[in-house]
Amino acid sequence: MNILVTGGAGFIGSNFVFLELKEHPEDKIICVDKLTYAGNLKTLKDVMDNPQFKFYKTDICDREAIDKIFAEEKPDIVVNFAAESHVDRSIENPEVFLETNIIGTSVLMDASRKYGVKRYHQVSTDEVYGDLPLDRPDLFFTEETPLHTSSPYSSSKAGADLLVSAYHRTFGLPVTISRCSNNYGPYQFPEKLIPLMIANALADKSLPVYGEGLNVRDWLYVEDHCKAIDLIIRKGTVGEVYNIGGHNEMKNIDIVKIILNELGKPESLITHVTDRKGHDQRYAIDPAKIHAELGWLPETMFKDGIKKTIQWYLDNKEWWEDIISGDYQNYYEEMYGKKEVIE
Ligand code: NAD
Ligand code: TYD
Repeated sequence: MNILVTGGAGFIGSNFVFLELKEHPEDKIICVDKLTYAGNLKTLKDVMDNPQFKFYKTDICDREAIDKIFAEEKPDIVVNFAAESHVDRSIENPEVFLETNIIGTSVLMDASRKYGVKRYHQVSTDEVYGDLPLDRPDLFFTEETPLHTSSPYSSSKAGADLLVSAYHRTFGLPVTISRCSNNYGPYQFPEKLIPLMIANALADKSLPVYGEGLNVRDWLYVEDHCKAIDLIIRKGTVGEVYNIGGHNEMKNIDIVKIILNELGKPESLITHVTDRKGHDQRYAIDPAKIHAELGWLPETMFKDGIKKTIQWYLDNKEWWEDIISGDYQNYYEEMYGKKEVIE
C-alpha cells in the first residue's frame, strides 16, 4: 500500500513514519511537509535513504502541488498530521491556523476524492471538545461529547473535523477521525510543556508555569498514539470517530516537579506566570470505544514514558539545542517576555 503522511517532519507524524516503516516494511510511505518552524528534516535523516520512503517539501494548502503528488504517488491511504499545533501561537496569530488546519484539510480531501483514496484519516485532538471542570472527575470526553472549543487552535481543528464528516456524508469519502489527548515523547518541539520544561531545567532557567499550574492534561506516550492510528487506518470503520487516551490525568505543576526531580534540579526554578487566555481546565478521554472495537490499549506507563523522554532529550541535545538557538529565541522572548511573574 502507498500511505501518504502529511506533517511527517513534525513530532507525532515522524514517530508515525518510523512505526509504519518498522511494522509494515511492505508499505511505501510518502511524506508531505511544508517544513514550517515545527518541521525538521533532521528528524527524518535515518529514513531518507529508505527506498520505501519518499519526502516532498510541500504546503498542503497548495492545490496544484498536492494534485501532482497524488497523481504521481497514487496513495491508498492519506493520514493528515499536518497542522499548526500550538495553542499559544494561535492566540497571537490565528490566521495561519485557519489556512493550514481547515483549508489544507479541504485540499487533501479534494485530492483524495479525485484520486479514489481508500481511506482519508484526519488526526484530530481532544481539544475540540473544549474542557471539563476540575471539580467533576467523573466526567470524560466520549465520541458523542459536543464540539465546544476554546482557542483558535481548537476551533480550527473542530472546523476541519466538521468538514471531514461533511465530505463523508456528501461525497461518500471514506474517512475516519481520531481525537487524542496530549502526547509526549521524542522529537516534540520545545515550545510544548514537557520539552520546554526539560530544556529550561537543563539550562537552569526558570520554568514558566501558567497560573497556579492546576490545569489537568491526559498524557499519552506518542508511540501509543501512533499505534492507535495504525489500527484505525487498517481496521477502523469508515465514517467513525475514535477517541484515544490512556486515563493518565496529571496537573501541570506535578509534571514540572517530576521533571525537576528526574534531572536533580531544585523546585525554586518554578516561576508562576500570567495564565494563558481562555486556558482549558481539564482534558480527559474515555477510550472505551477504541478498546472495545479495535482492542487498543496504551502500552507505556507515564512513569516509564517520562523517564524515556527525558533520557531522549539528554541523549539528543544537538537536535533541540539547534532549534532553540535560532528563531525560537525570538519566539521565547516575545511569548514569555510579556508574561508577569505572579508570586
Ligand atoms: P507539530 O507542530 O510538531 O508538527 C506539525 C508538522 O506539520 C510540522 O512538521 C510542520 O512542518 C507541518 N506543517 C505545518 N503546516 C503545514 C502545511 N501547511 N503543509 C504541510 N505541512 C505543514 O505537531 P504535532 O504535535 O506532531 O501534531 C500533529 C497532529 O496531531 C496535529 O494535527 C495536531 O493537531 C494533532 N494532535 C497533537 C497532539 C499533541 O499533543 N501534540 C495531541 C492530539 C492531536
Ligand atoms: P501545551 O504543551 O501547550 O499543550 P496544550 O495547551 O495543547 O494542552 O500545554 C500543556 C499545559 O501546560 C497547558 O495547560 C498549558 C501549560 N503550560 C505552562 O504552564 N507553561 C508553558 O510554558 C507551556 C508551554 C504550557
